[in-house]
Amino acid sequence: MDKGSGSYEVLLEVNGLWKIFGENLTDFVPDNPDSISRIQGEGAVLAVRNVSFTVRRGEVFVIMGLSGSGKSTLLRCIPRLHQPTRGEVIINGRNVLEMDENELIEFRRYEIAMIFQHYGLLPHRNVLENVAFGLKLRGVPSKERTEQARQAIVRVGLEGWENYYPSQLSGGMRQRVGIARALVQGSDLLLMDEPFSGLDPLIRREMQDMLINLLKEENKTIVFVTHDLHEAARLGDRMAVMRQGEFVQQGTPAEVINNPVDEYVARFVADERQLIAGKKVRQQPTTASMARASAARR
Ligand SMILES: Nc1ncnc2c1ncn2[C@@H]1O[C@H](COP(=O)(O)OP(=O)(O)OP(=O)(O)O)[C@@H](O)[C@H]1O
Ligand SMILES: [Mg+2]
Repeated sequence: MDKGSGSYEVLLEVNGLWKIFGENLTDFVPDNPDSISRIQGEGAVLAVRNVSFTVRRGEVFVIMGLSGSGKSTLLRCIPRLHQPTRGEVIINGRNVLEMDENELIEFRRYEIAMIFQHYGLLPHRNVLENVAFGLKLRGVPSKERTEQARQAIVRVGLEGWENYYPSQLSGGMRQRVGIARALVQGSDLLLMDEPFSGLDPLIRREMQDMLINLLKEENKTIVFVTHDLHEAARLGDRMAVMRQGEFVQQGTPAEVINNPVDEYVARFVADERQLIAGKKVRQQPTTASMARASAARR
């Protein structure tokens, strides 16, 4: 799709999503306060409460919020790693919650890639084998998957490290392997849960730059969880702030930073305001979206 044209296609749509950890939820009625009190009284955790958002193709959508606010749970509900209690998750026009077991396996293998802070590389396989592993599961022949894996390794800047093992790599390099592994799958949608949180600030910035550069070449759509507003502002086209399972504000990073809806959101943006040293955040595209727009023009 031509991202410069101004036309947008929705890739991911989440409607009225609830995730409750607990028992006896079959007769739970989302909008009924009595029903909510009942399950809370029984010790249920309302990790995600009535969350709705859409992500357009090619967009980076960032989710922020305090620890325990439900970010990871929400992200994991998208490919049904957690089974949502209520709501809809629609990707490319298909409702993930209506997929049967086989459809779900196919969907996870082809249409979505996940990158977490603890990336779960296979320790007894080298970089090349780790990156190619998803293709092996799909039955891609050895020569072809090696070729594709090598290309992805180059794209994340790890050329020359193909034969090293995860234990021989730094945290940043391991995360590059995780990203290469996701890229090689060729899926449109990447779910990233604090992928750079364990890294020191310089490496973290390098990883952000790498992601921004990748987005120039690849039409990826990303849902990105972070604690770091600066990261959100660099990478995000739009963002949402979560509190106790709910989205309290959605908008561009500039909108959220300049106009926090309440004290909770204001707390996050306070640091960022200091960082930009009194300068108003301009209502302009983020670094990531500008990079992609220039790629689309080429
Ligand atoms: N498997 C589970 N069973 C029961 N409760 C859970 C489970 N997973 C998460 N929770 C609860 O759901 C709530 C949201 O947790 P979640 O991990 O989504 O938060 P988070 O925003 O990702 O936090 P962090 O920033 O620390 O990663 C928390 O109260 C947590 O205890
Ligand atoms: Mg989390």
